[in-house]
Amino acid sequence: MRRAHALAFALVAFAVACKREPRPEPGPAASAKTPRHYVIGMSQCNLGEPWRVQMNADIAQAAQKHPLLEVRWKDAQNDSLRQRAQVEELAAQGIDLLIISPKESAPLTKPVADVFKKGIPVIVLDRAVEGDDYTTFIGADNKRIGREAGKHALKLLGKGKNVVELKGLMTSTPGRDRNEGFREGIALEKNPGLKLVFEADMQWLEPNARKEMESALAANRTIDLVYAHNDPGAHGAYLAAKAAGREKQMKFIGIDALPHEGVRYVREGILDATFLYPTGGAEAIELAVSIFAGKKPEKKIVLGTRVFTKENVDQGGEAIE
Ligand code: FRU
Repeated sequence: MRRAHALAFALVAFAVACKREPRPEPGPAASAKTPRHYVIGMSQCNLGEPWRVQMNADIAQAAQKHPLLEVRWKDAQNDSLRQRAQVEELAAQGIDLLIISPKESAPLTKPVADVFKKGIPVIVLDRAVEGDDYTTFIGADNKRIGREAGKHALKLLGKGKNVVELKGLMTSTPGRDRNEGFREGIALEKNPGLKLVFEADMQWLEPNARKEMESALAANRTIDLVYAHNDPGAHGAYLAAKAAGREKQMKFIGIDALPHEGVRYVREGILDATFLYPTGGAEAIELAVSIFAGKKPEKKIVLGTRVFTKENVDQGGEAIE
């Protein structure tokens, strides 16, 4: 239902954005009489997860404030090859700017660089590409979020010591950064009692996380804390622990903090903490507009985070300074 709502919202916003007709063609052909309108290509790596539906909704809502903007949407359905083809297709259509949230860094680096080298500005959102052939990267600092999650884990653990880490796709930058940051945060070398008893790549997907957690539970009689790189992963782990009657024996930490997902889980006592991972959708549109106005963009825009726990959830979480 919640997913359906979010999707419905995105579709309505999208339909509204599409309704502003007639439009002159993009590019320099627009005559002096008709105001110039701009076409933005938006390449989303998948729409199977609520966080990505939210990103598109944020983009659509921000774009609606600018009557001369049109957004052309592509959904790569979690397939890097498809995403590459869609990027090429958008560029061939003659877009004025590309926004991309790439599934994986390596396979999307060249397609993004090719668009950028054609002179089309490219905003890379949330997951990064390699090198620097793009205009601006916008996203939160995943290493920092991972580190904060690690420090929070230490606080939650007390005497407990057995930790499970369910990682996001390790061929994507947030997966790698959330892993590295967490390891810094829990500082195993300074906390010798602590043990990472199980780790697996659940590729950001709740069903995979649930399956991996079943293996973790089977192999370990005691698990004190589960750190999952996103809230769907943490929820999948919780469901596996609950099915084994063991969910009360351990703490769960996730990342994303969508109001209708992770924040709700915290309120319901399913998760002990979640860290906000903002979509950056609105910021991408505002940056696009400033690029169209001729302003020089920064290379990187880092978004902040917040932590949500049962103590602060009713006050909207707490900013991490
Ligand atoms: C959605 C998602 C989020 C996560 C982000 C990382 O596809 O898995 O849950 O925070 O991607 O890029």
